[in-house]
Amino acid sequence: MSQDTILRFENVARRFGGVHAVDDVSFELKRGEVLTLLGPSGCGKTTTLRMAIGLERASAGRISYEGKVVDCPGERAFVEPEKRGMGMVFQSYAIWPHMSVFENVAYPLRYRRVGREEVARKVRATLEMAGLHGLEERRGTQLSGGQQQRVAVARALVADPGVLLMDEPFSNLDAKLREQMRVDLKRLQRRLNISILFVTHDQTEALALSDRIAVMKNGRIEQLGSPQEMYAEPGTPAVRDFLGKCIRLPCRVVEPGANGGVRVSLIDGQSFAVEGINRASGSRPGDKCLVAVRPESLQIEPAEGSNGDGRSNQLIATIKTLLFMGESHEADIEFPGGHMALVSLAPTRAWREGEAVRISLPPGKLQLWDRDPDTDGAR
Ligand SMILES: Nc1ncnc2c1ncn2[C@@H]1O[C@H](COP(=O)(O)OP(=O)(O)O)[C@@H](O)[C@H]1O
Ligand SMILES: [Mg+2]
Repeated sequence: MSQDTILRFENVARRFGGVHAVDDVSFELKRGEVLTLLGPSGCGKTTTLRMAIGLERASAGRISYEGKVVDCPGERAFVEPEKRGMGMVFQSYAIWPHMSVFENVAYPLRYRRVGREEVARKVRATLEMAGLHGLEERRGTQLSGGQQQRVAVARALVADPGVLLMDEPFSNLDAKLREQMRVDLKRLQRRLNISILFVTHDQTEALALSDRIAVMKNGRIEQLGSPQEMYAEPGTPAVRDFLGKCIRLPCRVVEPGANGGVRVSLIDGQSFAVEGINRASGSRPGDKCLVAVRPESLQIEPAEGSNGDGRSNQLIATIKTLLFMGESHEADIEFPGGHMALVSLAPTRAWREGEAVRISLPPGKLQLWDRDPDTDGAR
């Protein structure tokens, strides 16, 4: 295990009866890094965190922390949670409602029999850092959701844990507060240079907070990488569709194209070049395929009064439904052949429902995939 790895999972599994909650999961949390486990409800995120801290035991594999094995059924090794020295923030906060803020945060220190004066000093410093100064005597019941959340973070940090584990810590807060907490956590993490294993099902939160993301599905890690590389070069359909928005057009391969790409055609026969990542299992002429593109890669302009300047890789589509969103318009557009997609339109002009738009498709940003089962009805 390298020096800069603090927590390591090797082929870890956890079964509950016949349910494979976590299946062959391997990753390393680096010192000072925020690594996020991202995936839909039930994919095994909480179970992974609970195994990291020792609230759940692995059925197979090995978990090491600071170079020491803390859970390995094969070696009959298991270190109790309180001996691991990690901090955890639960989805429900789990703060004690009738204890004061001070006592809630002091609890992990009292448990370790830290002296009175040191407790007072550490608790005050941690409350200050967590933005809770002046609330020491408040009861848990007298706190807002955001304040309870801060108490939970302070309590997890007060004993200087080597790693902080956070299970959907912001999911019970409203959207505005959630954004604020995100920024505050990032700032705190930078200041303390603490390592965080973060869990969320919210892809925006994952993209904003993480140095690296592990996308999970059915108890397994589908792909692990930086937010940028996962977004630009998803390795699997689950990663492609879970991280950010994606337009998917059912197509057929026409012929090999320039720059190692292919030419494809939509159902109505209009063809265009695809030169981005290729994840299709085959691309012979006539093969069914799926072209995926991030909505922000499309250039959309009114079709009326423009001839496209002779540029290639353009399609004419129709605005079916227009939604006013404040800083932009959301439009449901219909591609030739009937495929629908949701895009944003700049509010630079008055768009109209029923209007034709010219869509430029940059070949390097178009990805080639196999058809998904849900688009396979398309010809
Ligand atoms: N104590 C348990 N007993 C039985 N099944 C469980 C238990 N904990 C989790 N599971 C199952 O394991 C799977 C993963 O759960 P969990 O780790 O909580 O997922 P997530 O946090 O991603 O929503 C789910 O199918 C869940 O029902
Ligand atoms: Mg969970």
